[in-house]
Amino acid sequence: MDHFTHRNGVLHIEDVSAERIARDVGTPVYLYSRATLERHARVFADALADVSPRHIAFAVKANPNIAVLRVLAQAGYGADVVSGGEMARALAAGMAAGDIVFSGVGKTEAELRQGLDAGIGQFNLELEEEGRVLGALAAARGVRAPAVLRVNPDVDAGTHAKISTGRAENKFGMAIDEAPAIFERLAREPGLNLRGLAVHIGSQLGDLAPLERAYHRLGELVTRLRANGHAITHVDLGGGLGVPYKPGDALPSPAAFGEMVARVTRGWDVTLMFEPGRVIAGNAGALLTEILWVKPGAQHPWVIVDAAMNDLARPALYDAWHDFVAVRPTGERMVANIAGPVCESGDTFAKARDIDAVARGDLAIFRTAGAYGATMASTYNSRAKVPEVLVDGDRYAVVSPRVTPQAIVAAEPIPDWL
Ligand code: LLP
Repeated sequence: MDHFTHRNGVLHIEDVSAERIARDVGTPVYLYSRATLERHARVFADALADVSPRHIAFAVKANPNIAVLRVLAQAGYGADVVSGGEMARALAAGMAAGDIVFSGVGKTEAELRQGLDAGIGQFNLELEEEGRVLGALAAARGVRAPAVLRVNPDVDAGTHAKISTGRAENKFGMAIDEAPAIFERLAREPGLNLRGLAVHIGSQLGDLAPLERAYHRLGELVTRLRANGHAITHVDLGGGLGVPYKPGDALPSPAAFGEMVARVTRGWDVTLMFEPGRVIAGNAGALLTEILWVKPGAQHPWVIVDAAMNDLARPALYDAWHDFVAVRPTGERMVANIAGPVCESGDTFAKARDIDAVARGDLAIFRTAGAYGATMASTYNSRAKVPEVLVDGDRYAVVSPRVTPQAIVAAEPIPDWL
């Protein structure tokens, strides 16, 4: 359920009409619904009610907007970050340092220091050497860094290859077979409080079975590490739960996920940690766009919109589907291709899609764009950086401004020797 609905024939986000935002802020623009974010946060947390103690860290990469993070902080969420920049955002949003988990396969030494200085809650280590460097940095500060080993369970998540992370051939985590020996060695680092394990096998998972397999393997590893005398108090189960992008998509519900987790982890006796991103933010956001032209095409007309692959990269990158819905549907339908103004054929959002009939000057949204939408935007083709708006009931605010090409040009220096 979300809060993007037609009222009196016009799309509203909560109680604000999309037409009003288009008039005031212009298009393209990302629209987020606070009530939807809060609802998803609650539903996910409720699904894990049988699992305690637990810690839920929103995967900031999905939507790093500071106002969005503030909403989730108020809902009791911490943050899973993968860079110093994301850490700064989580802190700026008011998240407690102790609720921040630092994942990521390529943390720099400066970022490890930043995390130690901030006193973040946990470092998810990707390789033994990272543990040694972190341990030395922490020891030099007279602290012990809370850390877990991210293991690669060699499980095929059954998702798009570009967002699959848990197979042996992927760059993420350490081989599960090598984890016991690495744990043994790193547990002796005086600067580390090595306390558990982490796993994340991929994103937009449509099936719980691979997750369950990965969690089972982790459970066996917990038993083995304890048998070796290690205290295991934290296990991070990552993110990955998929969301419906098109009507008829059948995805596992958060409740089914929670039931599986409770069953598989029974008796583990640890704090379970979660890193959901898409399932919280995906359907809480949409990209509002104006139809620039309807251009004749060889087989189908081209609906050329003012949003492009630089604003929403997922279709170009992963052949992703985003539903296209007119703000003021007439009831008529058309079959069309939908594309943006960027000068490459990859800038195509849909091919031969049955959509609401639209004409020049109409408004429409791409749905399910609240996760991996604005954050993956660029200014390719010297287009503006797309703005973001947060709606709350009958009010809204611009929570990230449009950065115009003129402003971008003005910020680029020309060396005085040219
Ligand atoms: N934890 C870790 C360690 C991750 O790498 C990710 C996502 C998450 C949590 C959150 O996963 P989620 O719950 O959102 O599935 N840009 C791609 C998705 C990349 C996901 C990367 N890692 C897309 O647009 O589909």
